[in-house]
Amino acid sequence: MEKIRRPIAVFDSGVGGISVLRELVRLMPYEDFLYYGDSANAPYGTKTTMEVRQLTIEHTNYFLERNAKAVAIACNTATSAAVRVLREMYPNLPLVGIEPALKPAVTARPHSKILVMATPMTISEEKFHRLLAKYETMADIYPLACPGLMEFVEDGRIHDPQLIPFLEELLADAKHNQIESVVLGCTHYPFVKDAIAQVLGNHVEIYDGGYGTAAELKRRVIQAGLLEEDHTRCGKVVFENSLLDESKLTLCKTLLEV
Ligand code: DGL
Repeated sequence: MEKIRRPIAVFDSGVGGISVLRELVRLMPYEDFLYYGDSANAPYGTKTTMEVRQLTIEHTNYFLERNAKAVAIACNTATSAAVRVLREMYPNLPLVGIEPALKPAVTARPHSKILVMATPMTISEEKFHRLLAKYETMADIYPLACPGLMEFVEDGRIHDPQLIPFLEELLADAKHNQIESVVLGCTHYPFVKDAIAQVLGNHVEIYDGGYGTAAELKRRVIQAGLLEEDHTRCGKVVFENSLLDESKLTLCKTLLEV
């Protein structure tokens, strides 16, 4: 009889969390993954904290119904709204969230000018303010809310001719301030990293939290004694989306290969 395997659930407001999923798959190719995007309710970044918290809790409950053994909240916005509450609700579940990767950026270039790009909600949340307070004496940090940017990725328009002019306008002040590093504080943004580099110049170092989050989840899964034992098997990735639209699932598969 075939062994019943429990998947690792990966959640985002849409397709952005695939930038975390691809790191998870690289680190644990033998695991099964359930990737769930809530595109019907996206964007999360312009909603209220309570709305995003409620949606994230509902989806986590669904992952547990699906017998998930671990959960990655691969969305900075959902993490800032809900991770604390989820940890209280499920103290024994290996669960990680994602936050802007300020630490590696500050460590690599102390006292540099660092731009943090994220959704309006992430930037206004208390969790982000605490993160800023931790590093603000070690670098010049410029938070930038980027409404409208995730939509390029969500709609599969990562090579859209409108993207560069959009970024030119969004990043005009950052360019003027001679930013040296950029932290991508939204999981959709790594898919437009090349366009951001094109606008700000290739001397700018760009960071995202995808690898760190994946590595942390692997540690938690090991700690819980839940890591798949057969490292020779090839795990499967199942995509689901609240928008019942086949083209969204096709986009998910394409982004996993980017
Ligand atoms: N991918 C999400 C994040 O990391 C946000 C996109 C949205 O606004 O829904 O914050």
